[in-house]
Amino acid sequence: MKNIEIAGSGYAVPGRCITNHDLEKTVDTSDEWITARTGISTRYVSETENTVSLGCRAAVNAIANAGITPADIDLIIVATMTGDNLTPSTACLIQEKLGINSRHVMAFDINAACSGFIYAMHIASAMLGQYRCALVIGAETLSKIIDWTDRNTCVLFGDGAGAVIMRPGEKSHMAFYADSAGDSSGTLQATGPLLHPALENCQRTFGYLHMDGKEVFRFAVKAIEDSIHHVLEGTGVTPEEIDLIIPHQANIRIISYVARKMGLPMEKFFINLDTFGNTSAASIAIAFAQAQQQGLIRPGMKIVLVGFGAGFTNGAVYIRM
Ligand code: UT7
Repeated sequence: MKNIEIAGSGYAVPGRCITNHDLEKTVDTSDEWITARTGISTRYVSETENTVSLGCRAAVNAIANAGITPADIDLIIVATMTGDNLTPSTACLIQEKLGINSRHVMAFDINAACSGFIYAMHIASAMLGQYRCALVIGAETLSKIIDWTDRNTCVLFGDGAGAVIMRPGEKSHMAFYADSAGDSSGTLQATGPLLHPALENCQRTFGYLHMDGKEVFRFAVKAIEDSIHHVLEGTGVTPEEIDLIIPHQANIRIISYVARKMGLPMEKFFINLDTFGNTSAASIAIAFAQAQQQGLIRPGMKIVLVGFGAGFTNGAVYIRM
């Protein structure tokens, strides 16, 4: 286990709230179907913001919550699959907006889809020591890659960003677990603008997010349970002893299935997918920040963050606060 603390957290969502009833007007769906099959009631979608501005707002909130200044940060990692550009990275553009201009800063993006924030925390933990203060962000504008005429996907996702400040700290410790299993079969994918070599036919198209929901569901429930067991290996802590589990917010049925299977009460699981929908790499980051704001995260508590996503990827972070 590593002696690392989360010094602060914050989140941001865009201004426009889309309800299930709003979606009834644009696709063949119903509030009853969406609520019963997913637990989602609303999601926030960006009209004027992008991934950089959402990530930056979450970062500003996390920096204020930690009581530090941007100048204290020397490592910035952004987990996203909807960065505004191929380059410069979202992390570099957020660095500029935050005015972090000291010379010894490392800033970069990673893409592990909905597991991205877990992966980013894992990477930050390995780099802390050489770096003294990490800003770790999960940020997405999924609305850019959603086909708003496809009822199979458009009801599920939302935009947003969450951030934490990680730094070495004697009081709390963390353990990490990550896994991936390459899958190009299209079970969960959004193909990129550079799929074809320029010499082939110069196509510059990108695909909307597409998935086989049932197959992803099957992967998700196993990935969450496996990740929780793996991250606790060697900690001496059992799942029953965990005070709060913050899972990727994809579907309430995924979470309640896992709770039942593991014999854990639903009260242990933090849920905000009803409000925000699935915000991919931002989801666990937003949930952590919201739980902290609500006073649900206190010193001494044992917490697990757990995610799964396209790739396939999955992973977990154990935190003794
Ligand atoms: O971050 C990871 C991202 N993805 C996930 O976590 C997704 C995991 N999977 C799921 O959450 C669920 O599989 C879904 C919510 C996507 C779908 O729920 P389901 O219970 O697996 O439904 P289904 O796909 O089996 O569809 C059942 C029916 C179908 O109609 P028929 O063939 O039975 O006539 C669908 O066409 O529901 C229909 N349907 C809808 N009906 C109303 C699919 N989407 C909708 C909709 N409104 N939005």
